[in-house]
Amino acid sequence: MRQRLKAPSALNGEVSPPGDKSISHRAAILNGIAAGKARVRNFAQSADCFATVSCLRALGVKIEPPEGETLLIEGVGGSGLREAEDILNAENSATTMRLMAGLLASQPFLSVITGDQSLRSRPMDRVIRPLRLMGAEIWGRSGDSKAPLVIKGGHLKGIKYVLPIASAQLKSALLLAALFAEGETVVSEPSPSRDHTERMLKAMGAGIKVAGNDISISPSRLKAIDLDVPGDLSSAAFWLVAGAVHPRAHIRIRDTGLNPTRSGIMDVLAYMGANLRIENKRMAGGEPLADLSVQSSRLHGTEISGELVPLVIDEIPIIALAASVAEGETIIRDARELRVKETDRISATVKELSGLGADVDELPDGMVIRGVKKLRGGICDSHGDHRVAMMLGVAALIAEGETLIDNAEVVNISYPKFWQDLEFLSKK
Ligand code: S3P
Repeated sequence: MRQRLKAPSALNGEVSPPGDKSISHRAAILNGIAAGKARVRNFAQSADCFATVSCLRALGVKIEPPEGETLLIEGVGGSGLREAEDILNAENSATTMRLMAGLLASQPFLSVITGDQSLRSRPMDRVIRPLRLMGAEIWGRSGDSKAPLVIKGGHLKGIKYVLPIASAQLKSALLLAALFAEGETVVSEPSPSRDHTERMLKAMGAGIKVAGNDISISPSRLKAIDLDVPGDLSSAAFWLVAGAVHPRAHIRIRDTGLNPTRSGIMDVLAYMGANLRIENKRMAGGEPLADLSVQSSRLHGTEISGELVPLVIDEIPIIALAASVAEGETIIRDARELRVKETDRISATVKELSGLGADVDELPDGMVIRGVKKLRGGICDSHGDHRVAMMLGVAALIAEGETLIDNAEVVNISYPKFWQDLEFLSKK
């Protein structure tokens, strides 16, 4: 699908971002293996999360409806999963594949899990290696580094493992395996990554302790919990930047998660000079959330590197857009991980923003962006990546002339109503 957009004269109104994608995956998986029934509200209407639901259903977990905003999940308890009759499909979702790999490594049956072309090109050795250390038999294509994965799960033992990268998917895979392993597992992160798994495991009664960057977990039985999933800050981020960079904007974004391991975008935008407000802070299901608002702002450049990177990992394309029209220079470093996301997000962002008149140079692990006065519309492409598509949608809101975005339907991965919400906020 080709999306055609022109800059509106103003951006105004209130939107609710979809339920948090990371929390939704975890709510389905953890409730699926817990004892009892759970109602999960505001489940992410995201193709990625529905892929997780479909894998769990294939393994015998009752989840109704298979796609919907409120899911009823009947947990099968610790030993209730059964061998799937067919190959599991994680589609475009690395979170599904890596978390399910951790879980399946602990189960006494054979599983094969694959994904779409993008997911089959992404690194899986990072989960294969530690799961083998725990005793799992697990193989992958391309010298045990890529999907499809074949997993013959079984008796695992706890390990102490220092993660080579700050990755919540890898950390969560090991925590899931550790729930069924003999003895304690300790996972040490080089720096904090999103901690939704730890929070939910605690709320479900698991024996988990967090001390600095070390997480210890003992084999545990989980109790199902009802959950109201907060809105996804990674989706809200597109409106935060849209509101900041458009000259006549006032946008309110309701019920948005503000977990400190995710909220780096708020700090980055505030530092760049964005006119942001946080109201009505509260907690739901062990996660902080609030209502956010943003108004037209004068932004200046910034530097993003080191421990900040994992806290804004999914927001870097939209931060790059903000930097493209900010005053001065922005440097993004230590973000090599972006090269193995749904697409190579460094090269896709640099290519597409340059095509719209931004002044961007590619670095091996990031980019350097010098702010320009104006972007100009043109033909651009999502590269099959939902966050690149939405970043380009926001670019179109401030570009001169018309912008055409190819492969725009990929927003379904995390935010199916993105184009509708963009239209709703745009005033002619
Ligand atoms: C996610 C973790 C991050 C993030 C992804 C979702 C998760 O990936 O980029 O969109 O839900 O755990 P990594 O763990 O690979 O950094």
